[in-house]
Amino acid sequence: MPSAALDYALLARQLDALLDDDDWLANAAQTCAFIMQQVPELNWAGFYLQRQPERLSLGPFQGKPACNPIPFAKGVCGAAARSRQTQRIDDVHAIADHIACDAASNSELVIPLLREGTLWGVLDLDSPRHARFSAEDQAGIERLVAVFIERTRLPDLLAAPTPLG
Ligand code: SME
Repeated sequence: MPSAALDYALLARQLDALLDDDDWLANAAQTCAFIMQQVPELNWAGFYLQRQPERLSLGPFQGKPACNPIPFAKGVCGAAARSRQTQRIDDVHAIADHIACDAASNSELVIPLLREGTLWGVLDLDSPRHARFSAEDQAGIERLVAVFIERTRLPDLLAAPTPLG
C-alpha cells in the first residue's frame, strides 16, 4: 500500500522556519533530522559532500553508520553526482553497482545539490519499502532541498582550508 500523500508544501514551510541560521553544518543536520521525523518509512536520510574532487564524503545523517567515502564512479549516489540528476530507484537490488550500507534498504532517492555550477553534495534517502518514493515524493523532497539551499550559505568545500570549511 502506498503511504498517504504528504503535505510537502506544509513541510517546506516548516523546514523554512526551522532553518533560522545560514550555517551549512547546522542546517544539514536539521534538514536530515526533519525529513527522518516527517517522512514515513525511511531507514536512512543524510548528506554526502564533495570535499575532494569526484568523491562524496559522509556528512550529517540519521540512521545506521554508512559507507564512506563514495567515488562519483560508484553507486546510486555517484550516479546522482555524475549526472546531476535525481535518482529515484524502486528496487536498489536491481542496480548492479548499488552500495548496500544497510541491508534493510530496498528503495532510494538521491538528489544532487548544486552551488554555483559545482556539485556541492547529494541528499540520500533510503527506505525499507520497495518503490517507496513516488514522483510526487521526488518533487516534494526536491522542494525541501530547494529550501535547504535557499536558507544556507554553502561554502566552497573543495577550496576549504579546514575540515569544516
Ligand atoms: N546506497 C547508496 C550508498 C549510500 S547509503 O545508502 C547511505 C549508493 O548506492 O550510492
